[in-house]
Parts: sequence; C-alpha cells; structure tokens
Amino acid sequence: MNFEKKIKELLDKRELAKAGGGKKRVEAQHKKGKLTARERIDLLLDEGSFEEFDMFVTHRCTDFGLSEKEYYSDGVVTGYGTIDGRLVYVFSQDFTVFGGSLSLAYAEKICKVMDKAMKMGAPVIGLNDSGGARIQEGVNSLAGYADIFQQNILASGVVPQISAIFGPCAGGAVYSPALTDFTIMTKENSYMFVTGPKVVKTVTGEVVDEKDLGGAKTHSTKSGVAHFVAEDEKEGIMLIRKMVSFFPQNNLEETPLAPCEDPIDRIDSTLNRVIPDNPNKPYDVKDVIHSIVDYSEFLEVQQSYASNIVVGFARLNGMSVGIVANQPKYLAGVLDINASKKAARFVRFCDAFNIPLLTLVDVPGFMPGTTQEYGGIIIHGAKLLYAYGEATVPKVTVILRKAYGGAYCVMSSKHLRGDINYAWPAAEIAVMGPKGAIEILYNGELKDIQSEEEKKKYVVEKEKEYVEKFATPYIAAKYGYIDDVIEPKNTRFRIIRAFQSLATKKVLNPPKKHSNLPL
Ligand code: HXC
Repeated sequence: MNFEKKIKELLDKRELAKAGGGKKRVEAQHKKGKLTARERIDLLLDEGSFEEFDMFVTHRCTDFGLSEKEYYSDGVVTGYGTIDGRLVYVFSQDFTVFGGSLSLAYAEKICKVMDKAMKMGAPVIGLNDSGGARIQEGVNSLAGYADIFQQNILASGVVPQISAIFGPCAGGAVYSPALTDFTIMTKENSYMFVTGPKVVKTVTGEVVDEKDLGGAKTHSTKSGVAHFVAEDEKEGIMLIRKMVSFFPQNNLEETPLAPCEDPIDRIDSTLNRVIPDNPNKPYDVKDVIHSIVDYSEFLEVQQSYASNIVVGFARLNGMSVGIVANQPKYLAGVLDINASKKAARFVRFCDAFNIPLLTLVDVPGFMPGTTQEYGGIIIHGAKLLYAYGEATVPKVTVILRKAYGGAYCVMSSKHLRGDINYAWPAAEIAVMGPKGAIEILYNGELKDIQSEEEKKKYVVEKEKEYVEKFATPYIAAKYGYIDDVIEPKNTRFRIIRAFQSLATKKVLNPPKKHSNLPL
C-alpha cells in the first residue's frame, strides 16, 4: 500500500470539496457581493475551530443526467465549532453547487448536525442561500425539507436555533427559518417568500419584484418575519456571534454570566427627569433601558416592527436578561396585534431558555377600533397575556408611568406571577385614563348640564379629582400589587438586587402534554 498516495488522494478530495461548484461559480457568487458557504463559516466560528462532517457526501440522484454531475458536500457544508469558546453546530448552504438546492443527501446532512446539537445541547446556526427543492430529486427533496422541519420542531425550546438568510429562500423552504428562534436578513441579496413574483403575477395579477415581496425591508417592517437586518453578511455573522453570547447553550443551562465592571449601584439622576410633566407627552423608553443596563448595551430584536413595544437582550451585573418595554414614542406605547405577537414570542423564547425578564411598563391600554377587533386583537393580545402567565423565569417589572386596563394585567403584573413589581412615583394604575373614565362615570350629570362651558369646567374638575385619586401608584401599593415605589435614579440598583434575590427561583407549571395557547 502506498500510504503517501492515499494521503494525497484524501487531500485532493478535500481540495475538490472545498472548491464547491468551481472557480467560475465562486467568482459569480463574489460578484454579487456574497461570500461562499465556507467563507461564512470561517467568519462565524472561532479561528481554526471548525470540524466538518460529511464532506464526501454526494447526492444519489440519477435522473436528468445528474449521475455525471457530482460535487463533494452536495451543496451544504456542515459541522461544529465554537463561538467565544462555546460549542455550536452549523450548516451553510453552498449556492455554487446546484444553486444551493436541497437534495435528500443534503437534508440528511442538516438533520445530522441538528440531531447532534440536540444531544450535546448546543445552538444550531443555519446560513441559508438556496434555490429551494432540487428539482431533479422531486419528492425526495420535499421529504428532505419535511425531515428538517421535524428536527426544527423537536429542537425548538431545547437548543437556540438561529437562521441567517444570505440569498434566496423560497417556497416551503422558508418554513425552516420560520420555525427557528431568530432570523437575520441582509439588505441586499436576501429574500424569502412562499411563492415568487412570477407565481404571484399569475395567481393574483399583482406585479411585485423580489425585494418588495420578500426583501429585508418587507420582512423587518411589514411581516415581522425577520428579527434583524444587517448591512451585509459580515455584519449579519457578527450579529449571530453577539446573539449567542446572551443565550445559554440549551434549555437546561442557566442564563450566562459575563464579567461586569459597571457598578451595580450606579445612580442616574437623569431618570428622575425622563418622564415629562404632561402625561400625554412621549419620551423614548430606550433612554431608560440604556441607562439601567450594563454599559448601555442593548441588542434590540425586531427594531422596525411594531415599534410601540421594544424587546431585546441586555445584561444586568453580567447576567443576560430579556427586556420588554412599551414605547411611548410610537402610538403612545399602545398594545396592538403586532406588538402583542412580537412581545409574546420574545417572552416565550426567554422563558424557554431560562433568561429572566425585565418589563418596563408605560401603556395606555389596548388599541381600540374595528381594524384591531376584526384582526383578532382579542386572540393576539391573549398571546402576550398567556406568555407572561406561563413564564416561570424570574420576572421583575417596573411601571414607569401608565398601566391602564387589561394592559396593566398583561404587562407582567403581580397577578400573572410577576415576582417583584416596582413603580416609579408618577405611575398611573387604573382601569382607564381620566378622560374615558369621567365620560362614563358622569355621563348622566354631563347630560344635565346645558352650557358647554359649564360642561368643560365640570369635566376638568372631575378629571382632576380622578387623577389625584387614581393616577398614582399608591393604591396598587396599598394592596401589595406593587412591592415598592422606587426613585427612578436608583432603578438599576433596585432591579439588580431584585434579580439577585430571584436567582434560586423554582416554579413548575402543572404537568400536561402541552398547552393550548391562543395561536
Ligand atoms: C436545481 C437549481 C435550482 C433548483 C437553481 N439551480 N435552483 N438546480 N434545483 N431548485 C441551479 C441552476 O440550474 C444553476 O445551475 C445554478 O443553480 C444557479 O442558478 P441560476 O438560475 O443561474 O442563478 P440565479 O440567476 O442567481 O437565480 C437563482 C434563483 C433561480 C432565483 C434561485 O435559480 C431560481 O429561481 N431557481 C428555482 C427556484 C425555485 O423555484 N425553487 C423551487 C421552490 S419550491 P448551473 O449548473 O447553471 O450553475 C420549493 C419547495 C420546497 O423549494 C418545499 C418544502 C416543503
């Protein structure tokens, strides 16, 4: 046996695999401003940490002359490596081989890494760039997709799953990213749709291009399918590295702790002035978030979708937390269908992965109107209510200003097992705001007053009475629904202390097959 020859043979085969679909196709990929599957993995993982599986896998299709066209890896590069020293599993679709289209062998490779990720308890990262089902493989390709979906479903809530869309992602293929926890798109070259522009035109007559139909802007502002938009692939990959730093490896691990030199008792006097004197004036709740979290670092999720609620990850004394905050700057922070869905999914992710929840409340209520009612605000609002009520992670809530009506109950109130609930001194906690309350409470009296001027005077007087009596945190505090009224400038210290006290919290929901949450 010529051992050297055998080694050369191995190295040659490796080179062949690494060449993907060949020089010309790699050049075409670069020309579009895209990286290759392997270049993406190199950027994603710690240097030299990648271990590849199934490099020598090829498809098994003999139709359409495919037996003469075989490429090692078969259009997807799979394996494991580390991000900041922590194990992750990865698959990276290679557009240079059959347009990254999915064969059965290719699907098996993806399922293998997902299976390993679940056994080892490590995140799965999928880098998507594919023409969809490999047409030549017919139903075998569809079977492969369905196998992946099944793995996504089983892995959901067990290990974090992240999808980046770095090219086309069309047809049923979009359902794999949709089943994962977070989806990142890039501004260019990235699109997702169930049916492409041509089919849309045939079926509905609508004329729309790829970008408008399923580009990053569409999915980050209109549909909410994309959680993050990156300028380019490099930024998208760095975002994935950052994201996983906030997550535990799996559902059995505690939330990660990072070293923190930002003092826990850092006082910020500007918070004492952040709430405007006029209760109807907006402010930016992100100023409050930046002030209280470690080093002002906040990784916002779905930044441009349902901006009336802000969700994202930060650290408090080094501990990862998920933050949900009403945003008075948009639609006065009202809860509507999209905001409820956005926050509910986020709360459930955090709860699945033991990430404590900080909720900052300033909400005038649920959005009224036929659009919302016909759209099912009842069922969608119930999602958020359900998510908070189901969550067993430590939950700390601060009512910054308004907490009216059902929205008070929903936003991690004491009654939905909020562990520690604080309010700032200007908090208004009541069934409804003064204007609506007076119209209902004094409807009879108002009818009897003839002069408009007298009516106005009466309303102003009654509103003042109502505000003095109800627009305060002290009634809720009197019943123990609020554990303490805190000075805004001390918020960081008080919530860190609260979370520290909750570190050993153990709560179990009643055993069941699964819940029937209002989908
Ligand atoms: C086999 C495919 C392919 C596919 C692309 N290729 N898509 N091969 N099956 N689905 C091959 C091309 O033949 C070509 O091979 C190479 O990939 C690059 O494709 P181009 O068309 O030259 O590239 P580009 O112009 O950039 O266009 C990319 C594209 C287009 C937009 C993705 O190729 C396209 O529309 N493909 C079909 C997409 C599609 O309809 N897929 C099925 C979706 S339905 P050569 O040898 O020339 O390099 C689906 C069902 C899933 O996926 C259901 C799951 C439940």
